[in-house]
Amino acid sequence: MSEPLRVNGPRLRADLESLAQIGRASSGGINRTAFSDADARSRQWYRDRCDASGLDLSLDGLGNMFAQRAGIQAEAPAVWTGSHIDTVPDGGPLDGALGTVAALECVRRLAESGLELPRPVHAVVFADEEGNYSHLLGSFGLAHGYDQAALEAMRGRDGDRLVDALNGSPWRCGEPTGTRVDAASIHAFVELHIEQGPHLEIAGTPIGVVTSIVALGGGRMKFHGQADHAGTTPMNLRHDALQAASAFVVELPGIAASISPNAVITCGLLHLEPGAANIVPRLTELTLDYRDPDRERLDKLAEAIHAAAERAAHNHGAQVSWQPDLSIDPVSMDTGVRGVIAQAAADCGLHTMALSSGAGHDSQNMATLAPTGMIFVPSLGGRSHCPAEHTDFKYIEQGANTLLQTLIQLARR
Ligand code: HGY
Ligand code: MN
Ligand code: MN
Repeated sequence: MSEPLRVNGPRLRADLESLAQIGRASSGGINRTAFSDADARSRQWYRDRCDASGLDLSLDGLGNMFAQRAGIQAEAPAVWTGSHIDTVPDGGPLDGALGTVAALECVRRLAESGLELPRPVHAVVFADEEGNYSHLLGSFGLAHGYDQAALEAMRGRDGDRLVDALNGSPWRCGEPTGTRVDAASIHAFVELHIEQGPHLEIAGTPIGVVTSIVALGGGRMKFHGQADHAGTTPMNLRHDALQAASAFVVELPGIAASISPNAVITCGLLHLEPGAANIVPRLTELTLDYRDPDRERLDKLAEAIHAAAERAAHNHGAQVSWQPDLSIDPVSMDTGVRGVIAQAAADCGLHTMALSSGAGHDSQNMATLAPTGMIFVPSLGGRSHCPAEHTDFKYIEQGANTLLQTLIQLARR
């Protein structure tokens, strides 16, 4: 019997290291916000690698990228794998990059091996997974599509409009409203990702088989007060939008705990207007992210957040308004794909552990199109969304080989 196919470890490592140089800041963190210059450079980097390996690269109207073996016109629904190339501000080298580079490595390894499979295997790079404009933007576009009004309303952290970013980008092709794909064209989807939490490391287990992905909500909570002179307005006569917002923010941990032990609420972005040391703030805008594994509890969390915001505004003579993002349902990973992943890991001599994901992933949207699974590898200290994000290369290679075997098994079914 011939040896099982394995990824090219040195090439995978070199690619991860070279991608990690794109958008790298002096902090060591990586800045590849979707549709930024660094994002464009990383896309060109990806295209160069596809060209070098004889893979065709195509784009859709939201900037999702699809790589496949040139000249293959298979009729059978394809197996897809991939992740995202954009990062959070000052992010790490592996969130998204691992699944993107490993998918590329698997597709080119399959191409160069000459292995004949009944189904094609495609690599995908999803646009704006980190949601500068909207969380899981590209995969939502594939699964559900956007209408023009929804796209027009999307703004980045800097206040720029998604539609302007798309219009100015050579990294999209076709209409942003025309990105839905036919579910019948996809046989299965698998994403390799770092865990971004501590469980695999604590258990000493190299491979996580994801069972489910958390439900996500978010949006902008605006506290409207009144601008006044910071020197002359007595404290008891103020309508200070930041005092109201602050009273609200300190309640968030208690609100999360009142809903469930797994509920989380984060305010990671704060904006003040007019924004001067000597003016009482007229407006405070808090960008919120809240999550729970259960959809009903997510709705309860949203209700409790709104009630607390109203109370805080009332107590500080302010008004409150809420601009929600699209919420994302929790999903279960497909039991059949989970079984294939577990078997693939066993074939590679690796132990597995079932675990749920508290991070959002494009797999969440892909699961509405096709049977979907995720493979996790351990994160050092559970750290992610920061420059300290790291995974030992031994685990990366094991994860990539598990992905490759999973893709081969799925493409044979
Ligand atoms: O925010 C998230 O959970 C993911 O990293 N996009
Ligand atoms: Mn992330
Ligand atoms: Mn990610």
